Amino acid sequence: MALWGGRFEDGVATSTQEFGASLPVDKHLYRQDIAGSRAHAAMLAAQGIISEQDAEAIRAGLAGIEADIDAGAFTFDIDDEDIHMAIEAELTRRIGEAGGRLHTGRSRNDQVATDTRLAAKALCSELMAANLRLRRALVEAAKSDGDAVLPGMTHLQHAQPVLFAHHLLAYAWMFSRDFARLHAAFDAADASPLGAAALAGTTYPLDRAMTAAELGFSRIIENSLDAVSDRDFLLDLHYAGSVTSVHLSRLAEEIVLWSSQEFGFIVLSDAYSTGSSIMPQKKNPDFAELIRGKSGRVFGNLVQLLVTCKGLPLAYNKDLQEDKEGALDTARTLVQCMDVMAGMVSTWTVRPDRMRACMDRGHLAATDVADYLAKRGMPFREAHAVVGHLVLAAEKRGCDISELPIEELRAASDLFGDDIEGALDIDAIVAARTTRGGTAPSAVAEQLAKVEGGIADDSATFGGLSPVVEMGRN
Ligand code: ARG
Repeated sequence: MALWGGRFEDGVATSTQEFGASLPVDKHLYRQDIAGSRAHAAMLAAQGIISEQDAEAIRAGLAGIEADIDAGAFTFDIDDEDIHMAIEAELTRRIGEAGGRLHTGRSRNDQVATDTRLAAKALCSELMAANLRLRRALVEAAKSDGDAVLPGMTHLQHAQPVLFAHHLLAYAWMFSRDFARLHAAFDAADASPLGAAALAGTTYPLDRAMTAAELGFSRIIENSLDAVSDRDFLLDLHYAGSVTSVHLSRLAEEIVLWSSQEFGFIVLSDAYSTGSSIMPQKKNPDFAELIRGKSGRVFGNLVQLLVTCKGLPLAYNKDLQEDKEGALDTARTLVQCMDVMAGMVSTWTVRPDRMRACMDRGHLAATDVADYLAKRGMPFREAHAVVGHLVLAAEKRGCDISELPIEELRAASDLFGDDIEGALDIDAIVAARTTRGGTAPSAVAEQLAKVEGGIADDSATFGGLSPVVEMGRN
């Protein structure tokens, strides 16, 4: 039953009733809606706007509704347009007249903005928790195969050898930046719109600071028009999620490559692979592919909300009802993606032998051979050209530069001595890159300590944040 009956002679058409409803989506915000109403009713009583008895009846009635929805014992009436109307109507059915006083000095416009902000905080918290789980899994994977060396690539061509741990930690850094973006999105949501009413504030002596504190908001939105129409905090969530998705997708792509017959650098555990219904030999990296594929959905949700918001005049417009589905979807999708990714990297088998075997092709030592000459006085540009010719000679012989006979090197430059072996050895090449942030084991150990320090700092930050109202289970 619509809440605006007075002004209308007829009900809406069945088709528009269904078209206009948001209940199938916003029913997932029932806890946020009930928390907002509880805080609003307590404030109305504290300000003498409704009686203590009415506030108590409202509090008890809302508690009963919440328990029923939590227990899955609540049937939503499909005629209710949204969660706000569904709960208010049920409250009035249960407690009578007091239920009709709940909406005093409030509009669904500030109500929905409040619910959505509380939900955004809860979703950001879930994403931050999953982010920390994934980073810990990457660190453990980096530690357990810390000394494996793989061909580092640019343009997907062999470039220089790098530690596998170094490669994995690059992803840990990406996800650490995602945590900062999620934290910023949490902070953007952390401001109370409640008390803005429809758009202009109200004539009742509301205490906005009281409801904000009750709901765990760190501040109040200072402009009532902005309060009911701002959805930037969801855009922030979508952007943080989209960048996370880029990172997940890149790692997923590497996993697809690494688990192929051509690379063979890792073997995924059976728990993170699937077979084929026709080809008995297949072991497919389906879940890595799916993580890569889910990025389309996550980016789509960002673009959807950008487009929804871009043409809206102030203040609330019904278009904004399109804001919640994508946010819920993005959060749910990414928590799953991060947890599946964490499981995948925790259970794979790394094949350092396969990584090593593929490094006898691709001239990974070329830069170090040029550096060898440059360190003995040859201008680097000239050394680059000399080594370029040696690579060409090796290609013509069908061998790697490290396999050329020493005489051939000497013929190219008399600076080559017996100690050239050191510039051709993969482990020596890796160990020599001791620059801060470089791939030498010593530098990677220092980096690892920083990554772990960042995880500890972010865990502490996370421990200090409370969404106050968790997403409901139903
Ligand atoms: N279901 C609406 C939404 O999600 C609630 C706010 C409706 N306000 C209004 N003036 N129609 O945005």
